Amino acid sequence: MLSVLILNGPNLNLLGTRQPQIYGRTTLADVEAMCAAHGQANGFEVTCAQSNHEGALVDAIHAAKGTHDGIVLNAGAYTHTSIALHDAIAGTELPVVELHLSNIHAREAFRHHSFIAPVAVGMICGFGAAGYTLALDALLGHLEDTS
Ligand code: DQA
Repeated sequence: MLSVLILNGPNLNLLGTRQPQIYGRTTLADVEAMCAAHGQANGFEVTCAQSNHEGALVDAIHAAKGTHDGIVLNAGAYTHTSIALHDAIAGTELPVVELHLSNIHAREAFRHHSFIAPVAVGMICGFGAAGYTLALDALLGHLEDTS
């Protein structure tokens, strides 16, 4: 059975109460339950993790190698700053779908650049919490195409 890691970065533990006009009212627990249900309905395994720490996210990406077939990654603000996350993805060669709840290209200029994008299979942004299941479907399609 295919196995996917849903990895959320800094401040995403605050989902539901953090700037709901931008990120919505769905909590991280809701998102994780939605992803688990989507996996169950479609025959793949979903594991969820969140950290506010860059190094812990790097460790989670390394640990996913050999454990999971791919990652849906919302790296939060580290998207725009982290060469370490870029290198971790490049180093493990795991397929990663980059995900953002908000449309980062319609926001401040500092959110327009992503260090994840060049090492991701693709990006889904702007669809709120629904983006997580869209990203899962995109990753599963990619894994089926490349297997
Ligand atoms: C985000 C967008 C980032 O710019 C921001 O720093 C986040 C959340 C999103 O899901 O829209 O923390 O990744």
